[in-house]
This record gives sequence, C-alpha cells and structure tokens, in this order.
Amino acid sequence: MTHLKRSRWSPWALAVVLLAPLAAHTDNGGNGSYEVDASGKLVRPTGYREWVFAGTPVTPNDMNNGKAAFPEFHSVYIHPNAWNQWKRTGHFPDGTILVKELISVGSKQAASGAGYFMGEFIGLEAAVKSAKDFPDEPGNWGYFSFSSPDHRTLLPSAAPQATETCNSCHQTAAKDDWVFTQHYPVMRAANGAGKRAGGGYDDLLQP
Ligand code: HEC
Repeated sequence: MTHLKRSRWSPWALAVVLLAPLAAHTDNGGNGSYEVDASGKLVRPTGYREWVFAGTPVTPNDMNNGKAAFPEFHSVYIHPNAWNQWKRTGHFPDGTILVKELISVGSKQAASGAGYFMGEFIGLEAAVKSAKDFPDEPGNWGYFSFSSPDHRTLLPSAAPQATETCNSCHQTAAKDDWVFTQHYPVMRAANGAGKRAGGGYDDLLQP
C-alpha cells in the first residue's frame, strides 16, 4: 500500500522540484535573503527590523541646509546570513543585503537633555551584493531606493540605481567592500571575530 501511494505522488513532487527554478521571482545564490522580480526590480525587503542592527548615523536637515541627501536618522541593518559570514571571515558574501531605514528627527529636547530624538519612519534604501544579479556593477553591488519623494510611502519594488548615483560614492569612500563600516562600531567590533581566540567581541570597548 505504502509503495503504491508513493509511486502515485512522486511524479508530482518531481514536477514541483523541476518547475521551481522557473518561477517569476528569484533569490540570490540560494540563501533567500532578497528577491528580484521578473523585471529585475528588487522586491521591498520586509522583516529587516529583526535583522542585525549595525548603527544609526544621523544627518539632520538642520545641519544640511534644511535638506539632507538622506534625511535624517539612518538605521542600518544587515541580513543575519551575511552578518554570520562577516563575523566569521571579515568578508561580505555574495547575497549580502543591507538596508538603511530613514527616520525623521522628532524632537530636539527630551527628559535626558537637548539632542536629536527619533520621530517617524520616512524611507528605505537597500544595497545588495550579487555577481549573478549585478555582474556589471563595481564590486557587484546594486543600490535601491524605496523612498517616495514626499517620504510618506514606500515603493513595493525598486529598479537598480545608476552606478554614479549611489555605487560610486560607496566605492570611493566606504571602508570595507562598499560598506561604511567606519561608521558602524557594531560591525567593526565583530569583523572576523570568529578568527580570534574565544570568538567573543561584545564585551570589548576597543576590539
Ligand atoms: C555621497 C556619498 C553617498 C551616496 C551618493 C550614496 N551613499 Fe549610501 N551611504 C553613504 C554613507 C556615508 C553611508 C554611511 C553613513 C550614513 O548612513 O550616512 C551610507 C550608507 C548606506 C547604506 C547602509 C549600508 C552601507 O553600505 O554602509 C545603504 C543601504 C545605502 N547607503 C544606500 C544608498 C543608496 C540606495 C544610494 C543611492 C540612491 C546611496 N546610498 C548613495 C554615502 C553615500
């Protein structure tokens, strides 16, 4: 009986396996950390607030002639798959995705004192490293903006930005493989920590 059942269903199982790679959406080199649709656009990542948090640079509008290029707080997250490799080897693997979520300055005064305090979510940008999806981009890094011009909504998907719009600045000024690790102490501390004795890093002020 069991045998009969199996032989009746296995052709279907086989068909599913064979057809899967033909689906409209693809992910990178097999680890599924991002999705590119049939037209080559990156589908807006979700769930990234539960990725690994790298840091929050802030370029307030009031320190940038009223309009920062990327307003204002930039919370940067890296996908856990890439983080694990970074931590272990100090390299960003193919398939790495980082996002920066833009957040407005909500107030400049709080119970703790004068400063810059987070307001609302106002945008989302992403960087993806993939030799398969971006063979012609320097470093194989593709860049995407999901922010709407008025910063009130997010696009469901985004086409790759022109090389000179994003990639060029990252190529020239970022410390590690197009990523601005010099501004993320969490990433600097973890860089290749797996290679160090004990592998620990989170108890060090100066790794
Ligand atoms: C003039 C330089 C410059 C340009 C142009 C630029 N960036 Fe960046 N980007 C930075 C800097 C500096 C940081 C890190 C500090 C910060 O967030 O301000 C950064 C950080 C990022 C990060 C976080 C991960 C990382 O690589 O450090 C993403 C994602 C990102 N940028 C996307 C974009 C996108 C998308 C564009 C184009 C629409 C773009 N950037 C254009 C300078 C630039």
